Amino acid sequence: MIIDTHVHIADTKFDADRKDVIQRAFNSKINKLIEISCEMCYWEKSLELIQQENIFASFGIHPIDVLKAVKNDYEKLEFLIQNKKCVAVGEIGLDYHYDNSKENVDAQKKSLEFQLNLAQKYNKPIIVHCRDAYDDIIDFLKKRSFVPQGVIHCFSGSLEHAKIFVDMGFYLGIDGPVTYKKSDILKEVLKNIAIDRLLVETDCPYLTPQKYRGTRNEPAYVVEVVKEIANIKKLDLQEVEKVTTQNALVLFKGIK
Ligand code: NI
Repeated sequence: MIIDTHVHIADTKFDADRKDVIQRAFNSKINKLIEISCEMCYWEKSLELIQQENIFASFGIHPIDVLKAVKNDYEKLEFLIQNKKCVAVGEIGLDYHYDNSKENVDAQKKSLEFQLNLAQKYNKPIIVHCRDAYDDIIDFLKKRSFVPQGVIHCFSGSLEHAKIFVDMGFYLGIDGPVTYKKSDILKEVLKNIAIDRLLVETDCPYLTPQKYRGTRNEPAYVVEVVKEIANIKKLDLQEVEKVTTQNALVLFKGIK
């Protein structure tokens, strides 16, 4: 069985057929989903979703959203994190892709600090979103006396970055891009990082694997990520399924 550790099923792109998408996942090899709810506008919908069996959530305020977030949102977040089906805090992190102005970077760091403290307070792992900011986030985390356990979502850095994160105790999240022809660096990373540090994710509706590229991504397609990891690491499919599922259960202790 496989756990898709990163889905955005509350997204409006699933409004027309959300039930079918979830059913297709559970009818295939996927037995649990983690709904990543990191945009304030989706929190309510995600809360509804986790009333279903085998769907868990992570709540957070995404770095892209921090300039929109007000004090009240952070109070609400703290409340959501205490939900018994909330198994992580995130996506949280740094994203310099669209805006690396000082104002935005300072706001992102302040928000990250606040949410790291929440994760620590409630003893939850973190889902780290990092784009064009690997060196900065490593510096930032290393300055803290305590860093919660977590996963570097959709890892896309260098092998050197990968080794640093693994040394810090993080898992690396692997998504659809691993199946793309141009992902040489990621393939090299996978050859050099032990399977017991990897988690599989779809990030659906985004990052559709090569086989279905051009269409909306969905949890059932996480199988393509598992296949590609098995291929790169020359392991049995069953072994990759077993170990990555075990990794998810170790990290996300709230999954029962
Ligand atoms: Ni995501």
